[in-house]
Amino acid sequence: MAIAQSTARLRCIACGATPDSAGPGFRCVTCGDLLEFFFSGWSFDPAALKSLWLGRRTSRNALDQSGVWRFRELLPHIPEEHAITLREGNTPLYQLPRCAKIAGLDHLYAKHQGMNPTASFKDTGMTLAASAAHRDGFRWVACASTGNTSASMAAYASRGNMRSLVLIPEGKISWGKLSQSLDYGALTCQLRTDFDGCVRILNDLVRQKPVCLLNSVNPYRIEGQKTAAIELLEQLAWEPPDHIIVPGGNLGNSSALGKALLEMRELKLISRLPKLSIIQAQGANPFYRSVREFGGTKLEPVIADTQATAIRIGNPASWKKALRVLQATGGEVEQVTEVEIARAKAEIGADGIGCEPASAVTLAGLKKLRQRGFVKPAETVVLILTGHLLKDPDFTIKFHRGELFRGTQHENEAAQAQPMQRAPVVLDANLGAVIAALDAAEGISNAKS
Ligand code: F0G
Repeated sequence: MAIAQSTARLRCIACGATPDSAGPGFRCVTCGDLLEFFFSGWSFDPAALKSLWLGRRTSRNALDQSGVWRFRELLPHIPEEHAITLREGNTPLYQLPRCAKIAGLDHLYAKHQGMNPTASFKDTGMTLAASAAHRDGFRWVACASTGNTSASMAAYASRGNMRSLVLIPEGKISWGKLSQSLDYGALTCQLRTDFDGCVRILNDLVRQKPVCLLNSVNPYRIEGQKTAAIELLEQLAWEPPDHIIVPGGNLGNSSALGKALLEMRELKLISRLPKLSIIQAQGANPFYRSVREFGGTKLEPVIADTQATAIRIGNPASWKKALRVLQATGGEVEQVTEVEIARAKAEIGADGIGCEPASAVTLAGLKKLRQRGFVKPAETVVLILTGHLLKDPDFTIKFHRGELFRGTQHENEAAQAQPMQRAPVVLDANLGAVIAALDAAEGISNAKS
C-alpha cells in the first residue's frame, strides 16, 4: 500500500501566523520571527514507514538512494523533476572506543555528517532548499557562511544549473572550504566583516534582488537536516540513545535534529526522547550565556572569536528554535575553551575518525557534562560530527606542530594538549634514521645500541 506524503504548511514560531508562502527573508510578515514547517493531520503506521524507508536502501532510484529523500514522507513535498541530489546523507555511525574511555563512558558513538558529498552536514539541508529554489524558478541562490554552507550551496546550485553568490568573512574561513566554493563555480565575495556582518548584507540584498536565501533561516534547510536524526535512529534500530550532543553556531542544526526527535515521537517511531545538548566555543557563546545567565529569556549578541571558525557566530538566527528543543528534550548547554576543542579534535582523530574543529566541541562538551554528572557512564551518547577532518588542515597541522596557541592567551593552558601532538619528524633519507624514529616511537631506549 502506498504511503501518502503529508501537507506541509508554514508557521511563525512566535506568533503562530500561517502564511501561504514565505517572503525573501523567510521571516514572519506579522512579527518578524522565523518560520517553520508543520504537518497537519499526519498519521502513519510506524512499522510500515520504517520498512518502506529500509527497503529504499536497495533501490536504484536516485531519490531513494539519498539519505534525505529516502525519508520524504516527513518532508515538504517537492516535485521529483526539481530534486537536486548528490546522494547526501547515508552517513556512518561509528563507535569511538578511545574517546569513550577518555570521557568515562561504556559506549560512545559518532554520527559523522562530515561524510556527506561536500564533507559537512550542510548537504542534508541544502538538497531540499536548493530543490525548492529550483522549483520556484530562481536563477540565483545566495548565503552568508563560515564556509560549509557556502561549499554545499555552491555544489547544489551548480548541479541544478543555478548561479550561487557566497558572502564569507574575509580571512576567517578555512582554505579547504573556500576552495570548494571556487571549484563548484560560485561567485565568492570575501567581505571585510564577520559572519554576522555577512548575514546583515545578505538580508538586505534578497529584498532588492531576485535571489533565493539559502541560510538556515530558510525552513527547507531545517527539514532536510532533520533526516540525520531519523537516519541515526534507524541505525540504532529505533532504540533512542540517552544523549545527542551537537555543536552550536547559528543553531539551525540543533533546531533541525530536535524537530525530528519531537516529530518521531509524535509519530510513534520512537517511544522516548534523547536529551539533546548544545555545545559552544567559549569565544562564541551567546546561546550558552542566554540559557545560563538569562534563563533563555533573551539573547545578547557577542563579538565572536574562536579558531573553530565554522562556529564563529555572535548572533545566532535560530536561537529560539534551539531553546525550544533544549527545553523539550531536557538537554543542557556547555561552553568549551580553545584548548579543550583542539585536544578533543586530536582525540577524535586518534580514534581513526577525525573531524573539523567545530565538530570537536561535542567531545570537549561531553567531558564536562560527564564531570557534572549530567551524563552517566552507562548511558548511550551520540556525538554529531558536523564536518570532515580535511576541511581545515591548517588548524590540524598547527596543532600538531605546537603552533596553534603560540603567542596567544591560551599558551599556558595549551600544555594540557601536548600529549596529543604528533609533529612530523624531518629526517635524513637513510634507513638508520627511520629505524631510530620507529624505535623511539615504540619507547625503545637507544642506550643499548
Ligand atoms: N559545525 C560545522 C562544521 C559548521 O559548519 C557549523 C555551521 C556548525 C557546526 C554549527 O551549526 O550553525 O547549525 O548551529 N556552519 C555554518 C556555515 C554557519 O556557514 O557553514 P549551526
